[in-house]
Order: sequence, then C-alpha cells, then structure tokens
Amino acid sequence: MPRALRFCTALAAALLSAAALPRQLPAVGRRPGDQGALAVGQASHEGVISDNDLSYDDLPLEASAGFARNCDSPLYARATDEVRSELLKGADNEGNSDALAGSHESDRHDPFARPTPWMYKLNQSTWTEIPPIPYQDRPVKLALLMFVKDSVNNEQVWHAWLKRARQDNLSFGMYIHAHGIEGPSEFQSPKLAEYVVDGKAPSKWCDIWKPQMKLLMRALQDPDVSHMQILSEDSIPVKPMRDPLLADPVTRMCADNKWRKEWPRAESWWLMRREDAQTFVENQDFAKHHFVRGCAEEQAWYFPLKLREARWGEEQVRVRNECPMFTNWMDGPKACKNWRWNVDLCTGCDALRSSEHRPAGFMHPVVYTDVNSTALRGLVESQFWFARKFTEGAITEDAARLLR
Ligand SMILES: *[C@@H]1O[C@H](CO)[C@@H](O)[C@H](O)[C@H]1NC(C)=O
Ligand SMILES: *[C@@H]1O[C@H](CO)[C@@H](O)[C@H](O)[C@H]1NC(C)=O
Ligand SMILES: *[C@@H]1O[C@H](CO)[C@@H](O)[C@H](O)[C@H]1NC(C)=O
Repeated sequence: MPRALRFCTALAAALLSAAALPRQLPAVGRRPGDQGALAVGQASHEGVISDNDLSYDDLPLEASAGFARNCDSPLYARATDEVRSELLKGADNEGNSDALAGSHESDRHDPFARPTPWMYKLNQSTWTEIPPIPYQDRPVKLALLMFVKDSVNNEQVWHAWLKRARQDNLSFGMYIHAHGIEGPSEFQSPKLAEYVVDGKAPSKWCDIWKPQMKLLMRALQDPDVSHMQILSEDSIPVKPMRDPLLADPVTRMCADNKWRKEWPRAESWWLMRREDAQTFVENQDFAKHHFVRGCAEEQAWYFPLKLREARWGEEQVRVRNECPMFTNWMDGPKACKNWRWNVDLCTGCDALRSSEHRPAGFMHPVVYTDVNSTALRGLVESQFWFARKFTEGAITEDAARLLR
C-alpha cells in the first residue's frame, strides 16, 4: 500500500472512532514538540488530529487536517486517476460513492462523509433549524464585493467592463473594502474610488470575515441586489453573468469537500444569492462565534450552507459546488490544493498557462504577470466568470480589449 494511502486509512479509522464518540468537543491541546510544518506524507496522527489550536499558517496544507485529503504532486494524482472535474459538475448528486465505499476516495464526492466532531456538532446546532428565507425570483443585480489593500490591479479592465455593463443595461453594484487606507480619498485607483466604502472592519490574512460581513450588509441595503460575488484586488472580470444568473440563480461555491479542518471548505471567491446572505446577516452573532475558524473566509460560508441544504432540501436552501472564479492551483512544483483541478475546466487555457507567471505553491496559486489576448481568450471562452491572480499591468492593452 502506498504510504499515503496507509496514512489515510489509519487516520480515517482514528477519526471515525473519534467522530462516533463526543457530543461535547474535546478540548484538544497542541502537543509539546508538534511543529506543525510537516513535509508531504509525513503528517503524524498527532499533528493532524490535535491541531485544533494551531493557527492556519502552521498547518501542513499539503497533508490536510483530516484523512480526507492526501496531496501528493499533481502528477501523482493524475497517475492515480484522481479526476477533479466531476466535482464541479454536481457529482455531489451522482451518488456513486457506494462504488468507492471504504476507500478515502469516496468522500471526494461527499461533504458529509466521515464527519469530524465539529461537523457533527454544527449539524446539531440551532443554525440548521433556522427556517429558510424563501427564495424569490427577481431581476438580476449583481453586487461585486471586492477586498483590497489600497488599489485594484488592472483598474482599466474593471472600468471598461463596468462601462460596458452600463451600456448593456446590466444592473450591478460595486463595494470595495480597502484595508490599507483611511478613506476613499487615499485610494490609488481613481477610476474605482467611487466604490470604496466608508470605514473598514479589522482583517488579517485568512480572516476577512468581518469585512465580508460588512460588505454583505452594505449590499443588502440595496433592495434590488440579487447576488453577491466576492473578489480580490488581483482578479479580473471575464464575462457578464446576467443570463446564467437569470436562468439559474443558485449560490455557487468552489468546494473542497475533502477538507476536514474542521469541515469542508470552499474558495473565498463565491457567488451568493441574496436570501442566503440574509440568513448569515440575520444570524451573524451565531456565525461569528461558530463559523469563523481556520481560514475564516474559506470555512465560514460553504459548509454551514451545505448543512442547511441537507436539512431543508434544495428547493429551500441551495449551494452548488461550482467555481465562478478561475484560479490556477495546479502549475507549480509544490502545487497541492484540491482546487487545482479547476484548471482542467479551462480547456483553452494552454496559452494562459504558458504565460509569464510565478508558480503555485502550498499557500498561493499561480500569479500571472503578462497576459496577451491569445491567453485571455481561453478564459473568455471558458465557463469562468472571473479570474485571478493578475499583477498590476499584467493584462496587455490588446488583451484588455477582449474584455470590453
Ligand atoms: C444531521 O442531523 C440529523 C438529525 O440529527 C441527521 O438525520 C442528519 O443525517 C445529519 N445530517 C448530516 C449532514 O450529518
Ligand atoms: C438600454 O436602455 C436604454 C434606455 O432604456 C435603451 O435606449 C437602450 O437601447 C438599452 N440598451 C441595450 C443594449 O439594451
Ligand atoms: C501570447 O502568449 C502566449 C503564451 O506566452 C504565446 O505563446 C503567444 O505566442 C503570445 N501571442 C502573441 C500574439 O503574442
């Protein structure tokens, strides 16, 4: 048995028994000598199970907490036929996990498989019992919620895109939270300064929950907003999203259903339907105390909604595993996250992938520094609505014209 699989099996057994036991969560301490930063394949049981109080930065991301993920190199994963794409096409519903029962591969599809004590506890909480806010059919108005330091990379791309959206009578709102400045007058991207919100909420790396909540509340003040999309300063818009949202208005999040610290997570760059956002806002005290864990913006939204979907049914609460934002977690010698498979969904992205870039690592995806129109065209023709990460000036003039 490969070492990685042995590790998985042993850990699964350990966690299954752990999951069966406690109603109350054990207070698990960090063991003396636990160093946190373990190399690939070296995660020990202690390092993984008892790391509840490790900070996110200490986590050995390549050997995720939980038996569920076992990240070797992408080449290894390809060789072992681990296929990412079905995750993004609703394989949650395909119910073929029986065929894989007993192997760690089964929970690739199932966010509820092999529950951790945390998952169990959350499912027992009052959160799942809160009655859903009924979904309403309404015209699409997307609110772009962007989190930046003091500027937006490739400002001209956003500016042109917003202008075009206006010409096309697309409704949108834009709200920018800028953590590095004291007010809109200090903003370094003048064409977008009008969207900077007053005031800011405290944040740090892997904890933008408070700013997220602040912008959700701001966007909800506009009664016409139907959806909200989380964005970064190094993202770009790839295509208009009104028609797909009209046809299919559900919340979409780019899940990592294997993650088990403390429960499945999703990339920060999600799209949320108004009523789902309202549920979080109306219950924000509960959310603040129970969902802000680990890398908060990755943990605080997806699984809590997923539990409510399981409780109430998809008609009443729906979160689909789909990625509105292209991010390349694949290309780099240390690339490892589950999200790396998204790259395969951009079948025309060869030119983009060979564009000048800094490689993905454990903690960061590929950063593109020079992208021409050929490279960008692949994205425009893909299923993605937004893309990251692009440095300031990375989108050439020629490429920018494609996005207008
Ligand atoms: C949540 O708890 C309920 C009742 O206790 C149970 O029937 C259900 O299967 C659990 N759901 C998940 C997703 O674990
Ligand atoms: C947008 O609305 C204006 C005014 O209602 C109309 O004149 C124009 O043709 C519309 N543009 C598009 C692209 O639908
Ligand atoms: C665009 O970039 C790709 C990737 O670097 C390169 O292969 C291609 O030749 C470039 N195209 C043009 C027109 O410069």
